[in-house]
Amino acid sequence: MNDMSTGYAILDVRRTSPNIGAEIRGVDLANGLTAAEFAEVERAFHENQVIFFKDQSRIAPDVQVEIGKMFGPLHYHPAAPHLEGYPPIFVIHAHKDSKVANGEGWHTDVSCDTEPPLGTMLQMHVLPSAGGDTMFASMYGAYDTLSPAMQSFLEGLTASHESEHIYRGRYSDRGVDDADKVYPSAVHPVVRTHPATGRKALYVNGGFTTRINELSKAESRNLLDFLFRHMEEQLMVTRFRWSENDVALWDNRCVQHRALWDYWPEERKGHRVTIKGDRPFFRP
Ligand code: SIN
Repeated sequence: MNDMSTGYAILDVRRTSPNIGAEIRGVDLANGLTAAEFAEVERAFHENQVIFFKDQSRIAPDVQVEIGKMFGPLHYHPAAPHLEGYPPIFVIHAHKDSKVANGEGWHTDVSCDTEPPLGTMLQMHVLPSAGGDTMFASMYGAYDTLSPAMQSFLEGLTASHESEHIYRGRYSDRGVDDADKVYPSAVHPVVRTHPATGRKALYVNGGFTTRINELSKAESRNLLDFLFRHMEEQLMVTRFRWSENDVALWDNRCVQHRALWDYWPEERKGHRVTIKGDRPFFRP
């Protein structure tokens, strides 16, 4: 196996599980990233699918936006309110009066968009006394552990990703009135090819994916249920226990995540910047 923790001049990279995730030390993102640091961060991101920056200081909103832009144009969330004065910053916040906490079920960020996010960078500022971990699952792993017959069957299929059922009214307790809003939906391949690594990843998720288009309703439901169980059961996962100011950067093209809301009535808060991606495609 390729050792994905060696060959770095600046970063200290240590895997958190055999299949996905690495902890990163050696840079403080609060200072921004030099071109040389960014090159190593991008390499670690592609090799590990999700990376966790340890020993961090609080990142100023401008700096977090600048780091996000090093990966590409930023994504603006279709539903969630943003940090005042910073439209690309999504405030992740749950407390005793919250109706919902973000990311409670397994999902890929905003896969209902025609060009869904490439990646997401989240820094946590306020944490509960225990709990509030985030789980990450490798969709390369989910694809690789299917039989060759199932892989080739899925490669010819497309799925609908919708958001009306998720976003309508979701942020009313934060003052969002969405009466006139039309929420996005999109059709994507069930297996996508990662544009940077060339690897194939399963691209259906329990949050947004509603239907496999080429199958009957019953076939679609049963196949989706199987795939959602399969991606969890293969243990291609890593579970991150946050410390204050830790930063997670995940690749939405090959990772699903799930934030555990096991800490109610305590508070958990952080700033998230999301990077726009390109249209998913399948290349044999
Ligand atoms: C999310 O962005 O889906 C939430 C992740 C988290 O709060 O850990």
